[in-house]
Amino acid sequence: MNLSNILPSKKRLHIETYGCQMNVGDSEILVAIMQDEGWEYTENIAEADLILINTCSVRDNAEQRIWGRLAEFQQYKRRNRNLVVGIVGCMAERLREQLIERAPIVDIVAGPDSYRSLPQLVGEAMKGESGINVELSKEETYAEIRPVRLDKTGVSAFVSIMRGCNNFCTYCIVPYTRGRERSRDVQTILREVRELYASGYREVTLLGQNVNSYRAEDTDFPHLIALVAETAPDLRVRFATSHPKDLSDELLAQMVAHPNICRSIHLPAQSGSTRVLELMNRRYTREWYLGRIASIRKYMPECTITTDILCGFCGETEEDYAETLSLMREVGYDAAYMFKYSEREGTSASKTMADDVSEETKNRRLAEIIALQNELSLASNRRDVGKTFEVLVEGPSKRGGGQLCGRTSGNKMVVFPCGEVQSCNIKAGDYVDIKITDCSSATLIGVKV
Ligand code: 5AD
Ligand code: SF4
Repeated sequence: MNLSNILPSKKRLHIETYGCQMNVGDSEILVAIMQDEGWEYTENIAEADLILINTCSVRDNAEQRIWGRLAEFQQYKRRNRNLVVGIVGCMAERLREQLIERAPIVDIVAGPDSYRSLPQLVGEAMKGESGINVELSKEETYAEIRPVRLDKTGVSAFVSIMRGCNNFCTYCIVPYTRGRERSRDVQTILREVRELYASGYREVTLLGQNVNSYRAEDTDFPHLIALVAETAPDLRVRFATSHPKDLSDELLAQMVAHPNICRSIHLPAQSGSTRVLELMNRRYTREWYLGRIASIRKYMPECTITTDILCGFCGETEEDYAETLSLMREVGYDAAYMFKYSEREGTSASKTMADDVSEETKNRRLAEIIALQNELSLASNRRDVGKTFEVLVEGPSKRGGGQLCGRTSGNKMVVFPCGEVQSCNIKAGDYVDIKITDCSSATLIGVKV
């Protein structure tokens, strides 16, 4: 008997995620909340009864992409008049009612702290009423919700350990869209990690806007990461993001004590000029930042260091910008995310400083920064040629040809042939030793030893 004929068919939701890793984790929480209400996830947007877009507001071009995407959704609404479209995440928080006014296709607007109310909002939308909930919370961490994993590999997962941000960098919208900082309790984090390990995952990334200020009762971040790392010696542990002012030697010591905490630190510098750092309210100087880098190198000479660079901020002169280039050279970053400043309404920079670097200058500086980082990334990868790394296999490489891919502890992507393709017995989640034979600026290429 075909049960699908007699059981009511489940409603299906599809979700598109933009922005940071926090949003990837949030989408998995959103799917869990809807599944609990009997919904099922579909990868095929065309068959969805509910489409959610998990949005980002950090730069204007992130928002512009989403407006463009919304326009494309008209076709699905034309085909299915009962389709519900929801905007969730940072842009929902920032623009609120404006979203429904400007894009009538939008039925639901839900900010980052109101995901538990989504089933109710969807129910109302299905009756034809649009719904908005953008209330921020001081406590919400979705602690006990078991995220539904949307990644394809089954090897690497994000685990949210805290939400919000108290730093108020003057350029940044995040404290306004994600609210105040709060930490998830230790026990639900450890339970989630143990469950991931038991179902075959071999890498977790502990996520928060500023993980180094994690604190739940008397557990701080170095203590938490040690507990997570002790789940299993073959579970890799990563974390993001660290604010330089909070990266402690105690954390570095815990990394040394636990070889399964990955040798990779993302330490956003934003600028190499102390004057600009002060305008950004970063609360460190160039010298202090370089002191943190020296400490990382002292504890773990093999640790890769990556960063975020922001150019063209209010008042950034050619001299300030030259200091950013020189910082990049001095540190020799292994990789970087690079941006030009985009003014965000409501931030302290937008209220008190002039966005006075021309678009032309911002574009030139960004292009030069990217070119420099390409050189630095290539140099970093060239230093790895001839070395052997333990690689956690993620699956077939996008390059095809029977090649596999995986990452080093330092988070570099490695592509390698499986050997005899017919008899390849390496699978996702395995650790293999790979000797690096060649590289590009983005990838290491190697062979199994
Ligand atoms: N304009 C451009 N880039 C920004 N970032 C944050 N706010 C802005 C902005 N207003 C960058 C920072 C941050 C990263 C997530 O995005 O480099 O580290
Ligand atoms: Fe974008 Fe920041 Fe929100 Fe992440 S927290 S989605 S980067 S605005």
